[in-house]
Amino acid sequence: MKFSSFNKLGGLFKEVDKSFNNIDGYYDIKEIVKRALSSEDQYNLMFIGEPASGKTLFLQGIMDMRKDAVYFDSTNTTNKILDILEQKRPKIICMDEIEKMSRPWQEKLLNLLESGKVDVEQQKKSYHFEIKGIKAFATCNNIDRLSKPLASRFRKLFLPKYSEEVFLSVAEKVLPKTSPSIARYIGSKVYQTDGDIRSVIQIGRLVQRSDGPQEIEMIMNTLMKYSEAEKK
Ligand SMILES: Nc1ncnc2c1ncn2[C@@H]1O[C@H](COP(=O)(O)OP(=O)(O)O)[C@@H](O)[C@H]1O
Ligand SMILES: [Mg+2]
Repeated sequence: MKFSSFNKLGGLFKEVDKSFNNIDGYYDIKEIVKRALSSEDQYNLMFIGEPASGKTLFLQGIMDMRKDAVYFDSTNTTNKILDILEQKRPKIICMDEIEKMSRPWQEKLLNLLESGKVDVEQQKKSYHFEIKGIKAFATCNNIDRLSKPLASRFRKLFLPKYSEEVFLSVAEKVLPKTSPSIARYIGSKVYQTDGDIRSVIQIGRLVQRSDGPQEIEMIMNTLMKYSEAEKK
């Protein structure tokens, strides 16, 4: 195998199918996720990265591919999650922003992720069941806020901050109705300021067909002028 074909968008692997189609780049990670999904063995994978680095997109992609997956975020209570697990016995669980989930739930996860077993005795309701070969996919903004034992249950993929080149390519992807050159123009401006791809979307959606750099500048300056950072 030749490794010279690695590229900045994620390397050796080229997309061969439509899965994760709405995620730009990360071809190498997509390949790993697909392999984890099709492995017969138990596997826990975690995406760690700054906001807007595409972590939730990966969980959504997994949900689209696998109908036997369930999605939880920190708005789900421990009991709600346990109820769903007991009823559906999903083979795949996606947990978004896992560090924000309650501490008691994080502790109960330890067993589930290792052995697939849930043994919870509570006053109102007890749970005793097993989901063999359960796979967990999680996202985390800040790994320091996660307990060490829980972090150790996962293979961790740290998504790096986007390079400018990749950022511009993502900007094109998130603004499909805007011309590529305008999307890249907005992308380069945002990259120099807050560097958040969500800002690209928020600005891009205000741009009209006839707009040029001057109008875009006006939109950006106005949004910045009234932004949180300027509130003082
Ligand atoms: N690689 C990417 N390809 C396409 N869109 C992206 C990519 N990275 C970020 N985005 C855009 O940024 C938004 C936030 O991404 P998300 O996955 O929710 O980030 P987070 O890492 O905070 O979970 C997405 O809705 C998408 O529009
Ligand atoms: Mg997210």
